[in-house]
Amino acid sequence: MCGIVAYLGPREAYPILIKGLHRLEYRGYDSAGVALLNGGLSVFKTKGRVSDLENFARNENLHATIGIAHTRWATHGEPNSINAHPHYSQSKKLAIIHNGIIENYAVLKKALINRGYHFQSDTDTEVLVNLIEDIQINEKVELEEAVRIALNQVTGAYAMVLLSEDDPDLLIAARKGSPMVIGIGKDEFFVASDATPLVEYTKSVIYLSEEDVAVMRRGEQIHLKNIKNQEKNPYVQALEMDINKLEKGGYEHFMLKEIFEQPSSIRDSMRGRLHAEKGIVSLGGLVDYEQKIAHAKRIIIVACGTSWHAGLVGEYLIEDLARIPVEVEYASEFRYRNPIITEEDVVIAISQSGETADTLAAIALAKEKGATILGICNVVGSSIARVTDAGSYTHAGPEIGVASTKAFTAQVTVLILLALRLAQIRATIPVSRWMELLHELNAIPEKVDKALQCHDQVKKIADEFKDVRNFLYLGRGYNFPVALEGALKLKEISYIHAEGYPAAEMKHGPIALIDKDMPVVFVAPNTGIYDKVVSNIQEVKARNGKVIAIVTEGDETVRKMADYVVEIPATEEMFVSLLATIPLQKLAYHMAILRGCNVDQPRNLAKSVTVE
Ligand code: M6R
Repeated sequence: MCGIVAYLGPREAYPILIKGLHRLEYRGYDSAGVALLNGGLSVFKTKGRVSDLENFARNENLHATIGIAHTRWATHGEPNSINAHPHYSQSKKLAIIHNGIIENYAVLKKALINRGYHFQSDTDTEVLVNLIEDIQINEKVELEEAVRIALNQVTGAYAMVLLSEDDPDLLIAARKGSPMVIGIGKDEFFVASDATPLVEYTKSVIYLSEEDVAVMRRGEQIHLKNIKNQEKNPYVQALEMDINKLEKGGYEHFMLKEIFEQPSSIRDSMRGRLHAEKGIVSLGGLVDYEQKIAHAKRIIIVACGTSWHAGLVGEYLIEDLARIPVEVEYASEFRYRNPIITEEDVVIAISQSGETADTLAAIALAKEKGATILGICNVVGSSIARVTDAGSYTHAGPEIGVASTKAFTAQVTVLILLALRLAQIRATIPVSRWMELLHELNAIPEKVDKALQCHDQVKKIADEFKDVRNFLYLGRGYNFPVALEGALKLKEISYIHAEGYPAAEMKHGPIALIDKDMPVVFVAPNTGIYDKVVSNIQEVKARNGKVIAIVTEGDETVRKMADYVVEIPATEEMFVSLLATIPLQKLAYHMAILRGCNVDQPRNLAKSVTVE
């Protein structure tokens, strides 16, 4: 969703801002803009890509040592250059960039119109900047105070940065419900929606908390308070991010790089947590809560999209291994359906970005009801990581491709570790079996590496099916969430309609779709109720459907029936999703490439969905 970058310091601001916007492109956007202060306040903005903005501003005077920049993902008003940020205030003395939604913007706008304000755009953001200006003029207060008063009048979410022509050494930033991080350099400040634009300049960062207002003035220390006017001590943290992980490293797309990173990202998720030889599994961040989880009446997993699919795998794992009842909920449904939550429940929120608005709202609701809240997040320091009681990072490294790949396998890895630890505490499986599982888990990164060798095979399948309009993905047991995930990957990056289903449910409806033109992907490794899946494949073949099957290496039964097979190494049923998902990620990738789609930034999608 929207991306924010701002700079104040001794360097040229424009190149830093543009590079920062490029780093944030992965979040998804439809227009981009920049405001620079050099004598006067100049705003340049346009619909399209950051490169379009660069072309648009090419012949302008871009010298400045203070500026703000933005990529917009349209919410209020269509994606065009007028609605793009930054927005001027009516006097053109202030310029603002904003991420989030001001929910009461219509009421505020009406009041401002009555006071003589005119609006150029359809955005809620232009309402906010004029509200700030109106307060500053009428209440005769400093800009910082006007921002604080204005933010007390708005409902909704915001991460915003403001520039003022009258005060060219000042940046004001604030956040509520949308992420914001400030990088502290030598006599300079960087502000961004996440740490990716800052990492090459500084490792000292402050993550703003809810309702924080940060005042950054040239030559001075940062000054922090909240919108209730309480002074706060800035908590400066060391940023742990590897700049190389933000580059494509020789791959054509981030998604492909991230698919290939999985042997190491899974290893990183297990590092220091799994000691197979010594028979130790421990999740550092959860140690203090292990007993609480192990004796919870119920675990509720809340998440969205791919993270929800990982949650489903988690349900199977925890029930199977630790015998604790688990429910998996779409965060967006959970938050609005008056769920029954008690203090004896443990809620686990799963999120790659740690910023998903619906997941945050589900957490807030569960917190209100007294449940213990744990998080499984990838982005260190993200909002979800900070609002949960405890949690475990997935350590997959930055995921830039909008389609989640390595984050999914890392989430599943953490859930496997958690289920194993709970099983140990509750003594729900024999120690010898538990040790067997530990050893097999230890071998998984190598097996993922092997599963990745299906490149050419999958490419051929993609070539055969690239022009179809529909796909069905079927699996049972642990392979059902994999089928859902495979279908999601295909639809989001190749724009082919795909549905995931539990294979046995096919008879209850989807079988009507099967004919010679319908490709059906069966996630059919030789685990669990394999024989039943074989019967389902026969049902599809009997109706002339085209079968693409993901099978365990050496499988002869399915090979005879299927039109195409892709092999994965043999493993325990509980870990099979870590392998079976690999060819499906690749299938989606190749289909999208062959169809000429933008793999890393698919249309309409955002990497972190910070609005509901
Ligand atoms: O950052 P989160 O894991 O909370 O994001 C949840 C979904 O928005 C995300 O998984 C989405 O479905 C991805 N585009 C899937 O590839």
